[in-house]
Amino acid sequence: MNILVTGGAGFIGSHMAKRHLADGHRVVIVDDLSSGRTERLPREARFVEADIAETDLAPLLSEEKIDFVSHHAAQIDLRHSVSDPIGDARANIIGSLKLFEAMRRAGTKHVLFASTGGAIYGEPEGGRPATESHPTNPVSPYGCAKLSIEKYMHYYRVVHGLSTRVFRYANVYGPSQDGTGEAGVVAIFSEAMLGNRPLKINGTGEQTRDYVFVGDLVEAAARASRSEKSGVWNLGTGVETSVHRLFELLAKEYGYTATPPHVPAPAGEQMRSVLDGSLVRRDFELPPWTRLEDGLKKTADWFRSRHRG
Ligand SMILES: NC(=O)c1ccc[n+]([C@@H]2O[C@H](COP(=O)([O-])OP(=O)(O)OC[C@H]3O[C@@H](n4cnc5c(N)ncnc54)[C@H](O)[C@@H]3O)[C@@H](O)[C@H]2O)c1
Repeated sequence: MNILVTGGAGFIGSHMAKRHLADGHRVVIVDDLSSGRTERLPREARFVEADIAETDLAPLLSEEKIDFVSHHAAQIDLRHSVSDPIGDARANIIGSLKLFEAMRRAGTKHVLFASTGGAIYGEPEGGRPATESHPTNPVSPYGCAKLSIEKYMHYYRVVHGLSTRVFRYANVYGPSQDGTGEAGVVAIFSEAMLGNRPLKINGTGEQTRDYVFVGDLVEAAARASRSEKSGVWNLGTGVETSVHRLFELLAKEYGYTATPPHVPAPAGEQMRSVLDGSLVRRDFELPPWTRLEDGLKKTADWFRSRHRG
């Protein structure tokens, strides 16, 4: 297949691109490098530097005979979406709409979209991991944008026959994640611990998240790209881990001994987020989710090797 990965210079998109190449597909990457890095780009892929909110991708889709789009380009910083909701909507909503319109005109039928579980569901109701039918109550412009893109995808599927796969990710971690931004606590802790720098814990540290290893997403996407199924799936492990527990696991991994101070949590921060990922495992016959301890080891190995230079 010929696969276009938007956001392929980013953390998750670059893992997707590498896996599709390893599976023997041709890969084209579109990224504006706003948070992506060229060092993540696989050499075998064609790279086109472009802003999806400004560019008509129909000629590229036609020229490259793209069969499948893996749509990972996004403004991903939830706090930034609060301070600049219009900029967030431009990158996320307008960028996605332009892509879907280009697909419609070029006759590209298949798309996988990187959506979000936590920011769409809000606090899980009833104390259980959120399934795909959990009410959607985003309380951030980022969550509102992701949900509206899902709704546009429904429209494109019903009216224009697009084959759509929505992957609602939990909190993704793994090698090559960026620790410099606001997102990605595993990467932020890893870089601080390796540099033996002080770090801080937001709020009580008892807020929980569902950490899913990027390798598990890649496996699911590889199988979804071979399937004809359209749908919405959670990519989460169903296991909640507090920030304190995550800190403990990583501190042990890196031999970090400092005790971090607590600072006030950002206003409106969710206390809990956990996704039921059993549907995607059943539909695509996936192996069990990587255990957090095992995924953190692989991630720490990568951060250590990079730290050594
Ligand atoms: N990391 C997570 O835990 C998580 C959780 C839920 C959903 N997601 C989604 O997964 C996708 C990938 O996230 P990530 O963690 O790899 O983030 P990332 O910032 O590493 O990757 C996003 C990529 O998109 C590119 N990009 C941004 N705006 C663009 C634009 N207008 N045109 C072209 N390229 C643009 C960036 O340069 C970057 O390379 C995003 O859609 C994100 O919303 C991530």
